[in-house]
Amino acid sequence: MAQYKIAVIVGSLRRDSFNRKLATAIAELAPPNFSFHQVEIGDLPLYNQDDDGDQAPSVKRLKADIAGSQGLLFVTAEYNRSIPGVLKNAIDHASRPYGQNAWAGKPAGVIGASIGSIGTALSQQHLRNVLAYLDVPTMAQPEVFIQVKDGLFDDAGHIGEGSRAFLQAWMDRFVDWIVRHNG
Ligand code: FNR
Repeated sequence: MAQYKIAVIVGSLRRDSFNRKLATAIAELAPPNFSFHQVEIGDLPLYNQDDDGDQAPSVKRLKADIAGSQGLLFVTAEYNRSIPGVLKNAIDHASRPYGQNAWAGKPAGVIGASIGSIGTALSQQHLRNVLAYLDVPTMAQPEVFIQVKDGLFDDAGHIGEGSRAFLQAWMDRFVDWIVRHNG
């Protein structure tokens, strides 16, 4: 059976990030031939085009993580109705130098959780816009806009009972999306 490695990009550096917990918990809903690896974006320098010819080791590592994956999962917070700067910084780094866009062609899913009632809808929409430009085939449906409430996770950190069927259905579609795009 083919194996699929998914690079997971969490759009929050917060220690107790709900999105990081969500990224960890939703990975448990995937079949055994899928593995999920959260990539580090917290140690990237601020993007500076002057460095394109000599990218930092952390940038090279990020690009290698993406290149070695068969798909991407973005799990993002919403900051001021858009993508957190740390996520945009990572996206910009791996898109360069010009002509060496590491994201291109990697099939992706986008989900997110926030404490606000629109559950990262605007952040995700902005992210989709960026990914379209970067030639990332991004699964459109179902959308996952999670407002964090008690019970989202159980005591062990797994997806709570109330959200499990919905997120399992999302994962099943995501798995199909990744398999289809890896021909
Ligand atoms: C927020 N938060 C937030 N929530 C939201 O639903 N829409 C928004 O536009 C914003 N804007 C925003 C800006 C900044 C600078 C911060 C720090 C926070 C609240 C946000 O949803 C909450 O902090 C989440 O816990 C962030 O996700 P993580 O870090 O838990 O993954």
